[in-house]
Amino acid sequence: MDKNEEIIKTAHRRYATKKFNPNKKISDKDWNTIMEVARLSPSSFGFSPWKFLLIENDDIKKAIYNDAWGAQNSLDGASHFVVVLARKNVTATSEQVQHITEAVQDHTFSPDSAFTKKFTDFQENDFDLNSERTLFDWASKQTYIAVANMMTAAAELDLDSCPIEGFNRKKVNDTLASKGLFDPEKWEVSLMAGFGYRDQDITPKKRQPMEEIYKVVK
Ligand SMILES: Cc1cc2nc3c(=O)[nH]c(=O)nc-3n(C[C@H](O)[C@H](O)[C@H](O)COP(=O)(O)O)c2cc1C
Repeated sequence: MDKNEEIIKTAHRRYATKKFNPNKKISDKDWNTIMEVARLSPSSFGFSPWKFLLIENDDIKKAIYNDAWGAQNSLDGASHFVVVLARKNVTATSEQVQHITEAVQDHTFSPDSAFTKKFTDFQENDFDLNSERTLFDWASKQTYIAVANMMTAAAELDLDSCPIEGFNRKKVNDTLASKGLFDPEKWEVSLMAGFGYRDQDITPKKRQPMEEIYKVVK
């Protein structure tokens, strides 16, 4: 099988698992690979507005079960259940931007730099990120890229996964914040994902034909 066929095979192999085998656990080696792929995921300007919480605590799983209808399959059987947080209010002078600029990207941060002005212009004018909700959604979009990469990596490793946004955002957020998992001033739940071993057949893909979704513009 050539590389192209392998890539398409992996795309068919990844499917949203509705029933996990609760008795099979992902090895540390495989899980570390999946998390490393998350860490290496791209983000806007590299500001990585995310945090990944691996929930191993049964009381916490129970506390969100009823408010997270789309997660119940994963909560019941996934080897690894992840809540992905998006950073709130990532603006040019925010703590997150200063931290990444200095501690990760090894640049000097200045509120008056040309970059700070450029980034502010991008957020406020180009992308209209002028409210707490639009800023959260912008960060949240980026967490979805990381989760997509994690799911593809899992499929490559012959593991199963399920992305999850079937939950009441406010209720789940309040529950997890009240249990001390994160500071709700800084973070908000973006999405969740289950990873493990399936206990069912892989469902064949149902997708639109290429002509319907793809157009070459000359
Ligand atoms: C952003 C997003 C949220 C989703 N939320 C849920 C969910 O809460 N529960 C669930 O069982 N599946 C969820 N899914 C899985 C989709 O239903 C599934 O990916 C889609 O039907 C296509 O099927 P496939 O992934 O098996 O190819 C979600 C998928 C995405 C991309």
